[in-house]
Amino acid sequence: MAEMRVNIAGVEWKNPVTTGSGTFGFGREYSDFFDLSELGAICLKALSVKPRQGNPSPRIAETPKGILNSVGLQNPGAEAFLSTELPWLRQFDTKLIANLAGSTIEDYVQVAEMLGDSVDMFELNISCPNVKEGGMAFGTDAKMIENVTSQVKQVSKVPLIVKLSPNVTDIAEMARAAEAGGADAVSLINTLFGMRIDVKTRRPVLRNNMGGLSGPAVKPVAVRMVYQVRQAVKIPIIGMGGITTGEDAVEFMLAGANAVAVGTAGIVDPYAWIRVRNGIEQYLNENNIADVNEIVGAVQMND
Ligand code: FUM
Repeated sequence: MAEMRVNIAGVEWKNPVTTGSGTFGFGREYSDFFDLSELGAICLKALSVKPRQGNPSPRIAETPKGILNSVGLQNPGAEAFLSTELPWLRQFDTKLIANLAGSTIEDYVQVAEMLGDSVDMFELNISCPNVKEGGMAFGTDAKMIENVTSQVKQVSKVPLIVKLSPNVTDIAEMARAAEAGGADAVSLINTLFGMRIDVKTRRPVLRNNMGGLSGPAVKPVAVRMVYQVRQAVKIPIIGMGGITTGEDAVEFMLAGANAVAVGTAGIVDPYAWIRVRNGIEQYLNENNIADVNEIVGAVQMND
């Protein structure tokens, strides 16, 4: 059997598959379907200092090969997470990644301080397109990325992943800014900013008008960006965007991802994470590859 362990910024995952933040909640619903210890890591729904109600409904719309969401970072807040969700999650033998949300730099710093070393890694959410302050507003400006990363890094007791927005001209520049700010890893892509209009009412389908597109429709954009980021930075990459099968995950790893996140696929198939993990393993075994790390960045580009 091929070696499936990966090391992401000093944290050993038993396999390279994690969950896309926001698509898995805190795992309770999916634990009815499979043992969450099967995952390399669980990346949790965003956490802010105070609870957030999120945006008004409708906040999900189907699109060809994807979904548009404007959830608006709904979450119970860091304190409720620590008292209610974390003790439950600790029964599983897997790594936990807290996704940090905020409207200001001080918010991000405060939530990192509140969580301390209660989880294994942080993912800094500077790429959510569905909030007026914070989120993508930080993640589309290289100087802001470097600044917020370095301030959160100063107080982080666990490795810091920075989640990048695809809604930029030059993704490599954003990744370099995160690395310069002290990021231990980057994850990409968050959702592509989009919109749907109901032709009968002539109104946007989402109550918040616009939202983030995810699912198989975004995969080629995500693979291209992972490749470009791999050329730009040395730190590990967690690749995501439309992964549905083991082969999709292998594509991301060949492009340069050290690990992958599955998100939207789990909405139609609650076993998607296990299928993807098994599919990666099958690819390695069928191609006589002894270690999953061997395929990272192994794409051979045409001249
Ligand atoms: O609106 C949301 O909760 C989405 C978050 C994200 O894309 O990071």
